[in-house]
Amino acid sequence: MRKYSEVNPIDILKTMKERRSIHTFKQQEIESGVLKDIFTYGSYAPTHYMKEPWNIKLYQETGKLAFIDAIIASYQRIGMIKKDNDPKTIKMIESMKKFLMAIPHHAVIYLEKEEDPIRYEEEYSAVCAFIQNSQLAAWKYGVGMLWTITPYMHDPEFLSDIGLDCKVVKIVAVMQIGYPEKVPRDKGRTPIENKLEIIAD
Ligand SMILES: Cc1cc2nc3c(=O)[nH]c(=O)nc-3n(C[C@H](O)[C@H](O)[C@H](O)COP(=O)(O)O)c2cc1C
Repeated sequence: MRKYSEVNPIDILKTMKERRSIHTFKQQEIESGVLKDIFTYGSYAPTHYMKEPWNIKLYQETGKLAFIDAIIASYQRIGMIKKDNDPKTIKMIESMKKFLMAIPHHAVIYLEKEEDPIRYEEEYSAVCAFIQNSQLAAWKYGVGMLWTITPYMHDPEFLSDIGLDCKVVKIVAVMQIGYPEKVPRDKGRTPIENKLEIIAD
């Protein structure tokens, strides 16, 4: 594994400020070694009891076809897309498929459900830390991501279509991944003084 300092010796704090959510990607696959490095850095996230609860299903190349079909089928079940053969519906499905196929990699990030609610919260939180670590590491490699939470993540049949059991696992996010075509402007953040209450006595 390459050290991040060998990849791009910019400061982590700068990365934290400069990383942006990416909505448009270049038509270029990311080398699997780079993606492995990114997720390896991600896995240095804090994790109570060293559970390392994150799991990743990475869809790329023709592997995206069945994944995208499962998304469309879910949208039809949910009612976001009609089930008829109207030319408008067909056109909508085609453009959605084209849009999703143009994203080089889709990563479904999921964890095993825990019965104990405290453990469940801990593990869900650790997966979120893993995701943000991965986003920051990706930025160092020039790779962009979009963290998405979508309606199909909550559709049991969608999970079954991609080989997951909703009784056993929960999807935390679907990450869209690729080299950025365009980096959105920094929208800035609220001064932290507005959110910070210091209690000193
Ligand atoms: C839990 C979570 C879910 C998100 N879901 C979406 C999403 O479904 N679609 C989207 O365009 N952006 C999504 N985002 C990205 C935010 O819109 C983005 O972080 C925000 O606009 C700030 O932009 P920045 O990440 O470039 O600083 C999500 C972010 C988080 C943390």
